Amino acid sequence: MIHIAVLFLYFLNILQAEHVWFVKFPSKDDHLSHIEKSFPLIDLLQHDYNDSSYVFLLPSTYQTKLRRLIHQANGSYRILSNNARNTWKVSPDRPKRSVLSDNPLDESYYQRFPTYDEHQEWQQLLQSSPQTQKLIRLHTIGQTYENRSLTVVQIHTNYPRRIQGRRKRKQAIYIDGGMHAREWLSVGVANYILIQFLLLRESDPKVHEILRHFDIFVLPMMNPDGYEYSRTHNRLWRKNRSPTSHSEFWNGDQNCYGVDLNRNFPYQWNSTYGASSHPCSHSYRGISPASESEVESVVNFLRRQRISHPKFYAYFNLHSYGRFWLLPWTYTMLERVTNYDELFERSTRVANEVMNQTYRVGQASFLLYPCSGTSIDFASTFMSHAMTFELSPIFQGLPMCVEQNKTVNHGCTVGFLIGPESIQIDGNEIFKAIIEYLYALVQDHFV
Ligand SMILES: *[C@@H]1O[C@H](CO)[C@@H](O)[C@H](O)[C@H]1NC(C)=O
Ligand SMILES: *[C@@H]1O[C@H](CO)[C@@H](O)[C@H](O)[C@H]1NC(C)=O
Ligand SMILES: *[C@@H]1O[C@H](CO)[C@@H](O)[C@H](O)[C@H]1NC(C)=O
Ligand SMILES: *[C@@H]1O[C@H](CO)[C@@H](O)[C@H](O)[C@H]1NC(C)=O
Ligand SMILES: *[C@@H]1O[C@H](CO)[C@@H](O)[C@H](O)[C@H]1NC(C)=O
Ligand SMILES: *[C@@H]1O[C@H](CO)[C@@H](O)[C@H](O)[C@H]1NC(C)=O
Ligand SMILES: [Zn+2]
Repeated sequence: MIHIAVLFLYFLNILQAEHVWFVKFPSKDDHLSHIEKSFPLIDLLQHDYNDSSYVFLLPSTYQTKLRRLIHQANGSYRILSNNARNTWKVSPDRPKRSVLSDNPLDESYYQRFPTYDEHQEWQQLLQSSPQTQKLIRLHTIGQTYENRSLTVVQIHTNYPRRIQGRRKRKQAIYIDGGMHAREWLSVGVANYILIQFLLLRESDPKVHEILRHFDIFVLPMMNPDGYEYSRTHNRLWRKNRSPTSHSEFWNGDQNCYGVDLNRNFPYQWNSTYGASSHPCSHSYRGISPASESEVESVVNFLRRQRISHPKFYAYFNLHSYGRFWLLPWTYTMLERVTNYDELFERSTRVANEVMNQTYRVGQASFLLYPCSGTSIDFASTFMSHAMTFELSPIFQGLPMCVEQNKTVNHGCTVGFLIGPESIQIDGNEIFKAIIEYLYALVQDHFV
């Protein structure tokens, strides 16, 4: 019996092996929707529209079929990794945790990818430490499927807000990271931004001015179940961890768990092809709008704050990676948000100043691809400024595999496997961009 079980596990492992493909087509046709129709389980890691090139993660069982499709379209491919799941498993014996500073603003707190528990402890320290306790409120906005708390950190100062001499109530900014489990960099950058706001609140005139008008609400880890799973089981995990209608039937196939939180928001949910209805897909949209407790918690929180105080004014949604500055709408290429021209002009100006023109600014559905149920589309129904940053990991000195004729085992990276040293470099860039963006808004609208 034992032998059969071992044999079964062995084959299960082969079935579950996933390959990372780099695929390039000679023409700019709509290869993506064709591929997604033929391979509902495919996971798009990277896409360069101009170059007609893609990086996909796909179960090895589909190899032959994908080869055929590429061949028919006269494309070329390279397999960058043969068993992504095993190659990229996080080593379980992490170095012993070092003793961290009792100052929650110490740089050691953002120079690492913390576990969920460490992250919670840090947030508690922010609330209790003498340096920050007057400035911080923690809001537990809900629980995940695996009963982890979702914690929003609020920065509130007592700087009075006056417009034309009259005292006014503050408004609010919302920032989130970690919506997709494997995008650890976005968690680190959200933490970095929080710390910078607190450190520079007095010394930097722009930061000070922004904090006079806004409270800052940050949810650095929106998908803690997925984040922990990506630490312990599968580094390239994207969704949350709630069971789906297929989890029981495909017992053993972990892909049939979880919902893509950025396809589950209750605006235009299930209106485009880019959100999968297949429960085993990496971009599964869930069974109904806001079916996931992570999404429902955020939606309720934003709505609650919206009708009372403070009112949300802008939303910065952090993902990794791609160097994109994405504006709504995501769900359609046929329409623009009413203030699109203003958003584009403001974002372009800041991107040119701060990012040295290395970020591409534009409507999400054009720069990436249309997909529905995203958080910025939802936020845009009641905030004028909602946008996504696809960050820019610095690869620990390693080149991107797609730029080199190399495979993952030979010293290159696919962009999620980055060291924590990227956090400060990227964080600095994004923090500056957010400050310049908000400062210009304050100057134009509140003075
Ligand atoms: C594609 O290339 C054109 C011309 O080189 C450029 O103007 C455009 O911004 C590029 N688009 C993207 C999404 O990079
Ligand atoms: C592929 O290349 C062949 C030969 O050059 C050509 O006849 C065919 O139309 C091409 N197919 C596609 C889908 O571009
Ligand atoms: C979460 O907590 C509830 C109530 O304590 C419990 O019934 C449930 O089994 C827990 N779920 C998980 C996945 O641990
Ligand atoms: C999702 O959209 C498809 C295509 O319009 C439709 O057939 C399906 O019923 C929708 N599913 C749900 C749950 O609304
Ligand atoms: C900005 O980009 C230009 C052209 O790529 C480069 O020469 C310059 O050094 C960059 N400046 C900064 C501050 O990174
Ligand atoms: C890439 O490497 C393979 C084998 O290592 C070699 O056969 C191929 O010619 C190389 N391609 C390019 C474009 O350098
Ligand atoms: Zn993402």
